[in-house]
Amino acid sequence: MAERRNGLVVWFTGLSGAGKTTLAQALHKRLEAAGYPTELLDGDEVREHLSKGLGFSREDRDTNIRRIGYVANLLAKHGVVVLVSAISPYRATREEVLAQAPRKLEVFVDAPLEVVARRDVKGLYARALRGEIPQFTGVNDPYEPPLHPDLHLRTDQENLETCLKRLIRALEPLGIRLEVAA
Ligand code: ADX
Repeated sequence: MAERRNGLVVWFTGLSGAGKTTLAQALHKRLEAAGYPTELLDGDEVREHLSKGLGFSREDRDTNIRRIGYVANLLAKHGVVVLVSAISPYRATREEVLAQAPRKLEVFVDAPLEVVARRDVKGLYARALRGEIPQFTGVNDPYEPPLHPDLHLRTDQENLETCLKRLIRALEPLGIRLEVAA
């Protein structure tokens, strides 16, 4: 049974390719294994259904983020540990949505543009840098980093295991208890 007091929104923000989804998926698995009711809302996936048809203008991104935030907050109110992984580039919109969460942990998944462009898992940076994708975050569209994130992870300096450990520790004061792997 979901305990309402455990409800929480863990919001991963950062550039495409910074590692938001990887981290959120790893945490999601750990939460499930420990028996917490948990959901993962991932920008790429949500854009296939709830936000289908939306593009990457400021207005469309804000609509996407408000929709994700709305669902996340509803679930969190009912005891679900909700993980959100979306670029969510605009500070004001993130703050607006997170202000409505019963409890939140804002996680800045940070890696410099040179690094994410070099990783280029989806091949999108190469295209954006050639000018083939308009409004690509970090290249020709802004990303506003959180000024006071609850957790700041540098994925170019710390590996996945270390980042996951730091996440798990940050969740402890919120009453979410997961074992840190030795
Ligand atoms: S957000 O800005 O509205 O938060 P979201 O996280 O849902 O973005 O989607 C980002 C994903 O869409 C990226 O990881 C990438 O795969 C894809 N994408 C396609 N076009 C763009 C673009 N112009 N800017 C950023 N990401 C894009």
